[in-house]
Amino acid sequence: MEKCDLLLRGGVVIDGSGQARQKADVAVRNGVILAIGDLHHFSADEVVEVGGLVVAPGFIDVHTHDDRLLLADPLMQPKVSQGVTTVITGNCGISLSPLGSHDPIPPLNLVADPSVHQFDTFASYFGALDASPPAVNVASLIGHTTLRVVCMDDVGRPALADEVAAMQALVREALEAGVLGLSTGMYYAPAQAATADEVRAVCEPLRGTNALIASHLRNEGDQVLVAMTEAMTIANDLGVRQVLSHHKVMGSANFGRSAETLALVDRARKQGDVCLDCYPYVAASTVLRQDAVEQASRTLITWSDSAPEASGRYVDELLQERGGELTALLQSLQPAGAIYFIMDEGDVERILAYPETMVGSDGLPHDTFPHPRLWGAFPRVLGHYTRDRKLFSLEMAVHKMSGLSASRFGLGDRGFVRPGYAADLVVFDPDRVADRATFKEPKLSAAGIERVYVNGTLSWHDGATSGARAGKVLRRRAA
Ligand code: ZN
Ligand code: CU
Repeated sequence: MEKCDLLLRGGVVIDGSGQARQKADVAVRNGVILAIGDLHHFSADEVVEVGGLVVAPGFIDVHTHDDRLLLADPLMQPKVSQGVTTVITGNCGISLSPLGSHDPIPPLNLVADPSVHQFDTFASYFGALDASPPAVNVASLIGHTTLRVVCMDDVGRPALADEVAAMQALVREALEAGVLGLSTGMYYAPAQAATADEVRAVCEPLRGTNALIASHLRNEGDQVLVAMTEAMTIANDLGVRQVLSHHKVMGSANFGRSAETLALVDRARKQGDVCLDCYPYVAASTVLRQDAVEQASRTLITWSDSAPEASGRYVDELLQERGGELTALLQSLQPAGAIYFIMDEGDVERILAYPETMVGSDGLPHDTFPHPRLWGAFPRVLGHYTRDRKLFSLEMAVHKMSGLSASRFGLGDRGFVRPGYAADLVVFDPDRVADRATFKEPKLSAAGIERVYVNGTLSWHDGATSGARAGKVLRRRAA
């Protein structure tokens, strides 16, 4: 008789590969999946009956800004409540490390608070996570915008040769410490002056490695194709894999243009390795910017340091109450963040359904009134887009949240329910799974996520955290 620690009995296994589901038991020993199949001959310390439920790989949130949350609130309830067992941080050019004590100018204020956490190197950031582990596994990217703030005295111009060299040294340190790659955010003020040549030079240490570039494009509106070409040329020149972050097209004049952007990705994939991440909503969220307010059909304030009472209020309502000009109102709220209703449902569905699209929440965990994607992105794909809208099969939805993500980010023994793989598992009810977080009530946990295991440890159950903090730092493995 074979022995194991945990036996999930009688469930329907969807293994993360996209292959059809099968009825099977799953045995776990020492945090690793031991066997899958008819395991009635196994003896287990704990047997859990999961008849009627799906057993899937724990979800991988490939697009997060959880850098500081992992340390500040290590139970990670916004994520583990969705069945997420691994997060990838440092997206959009903004990583908490190696910012150190530098001023977290917007958008770095979305992740950094130097009064609490300061890291000059990735070795020290990962060391802090090793010493105080969170409830989910974590892998990270290093942000180009962070590097600019650290290495340049004026971010309003392209970097000089010695500044590029300083940034390269920090990229090398981060790669040695185990980051999965580098992210850019040329849309944002502190990186707008960067040229493609600067980014390519800063990324030079990635050449010949299996590290990747995640690109928040310079423009996701009228100039989206130009911005995609700029980003894809950089990755192609370096010969590295690329993730186009939170792919979207913004502004009503551009509605429908995902047909063009995805055709461009198809062409680029003939030469290089390009994939996408996407969150399942028609509203974007970031720092408060007038250009975005003007592009959006409506804007909702998520936080404001100058006027905290404005959180959760719409800009048009505030304007009506207070009168005056839009510019003056927005000025009076800064620094602040917002949700922008700025996309077309048809584009969101087309991008989500694209075979190389992974799910990423892009949740902003420190916002007072966050975009509901923070608590709802993964169950929304399973419930709304898969079960209700029938955009793809449940097997494909799980693949986009686990196996595809692990493959593209090089996470080795994660993302699949397979013998020898880490026992990151989610048990959910396919008929009930749904997001409950909304634009009115953004902090509600999902329905139908029954059990979440991280490295074999029960971490979420009965709608609550177990208190376990079984996550590990996932360092890049050389190819
Ligand atoms: Zn971004
Ligand atoms: Cu982001």
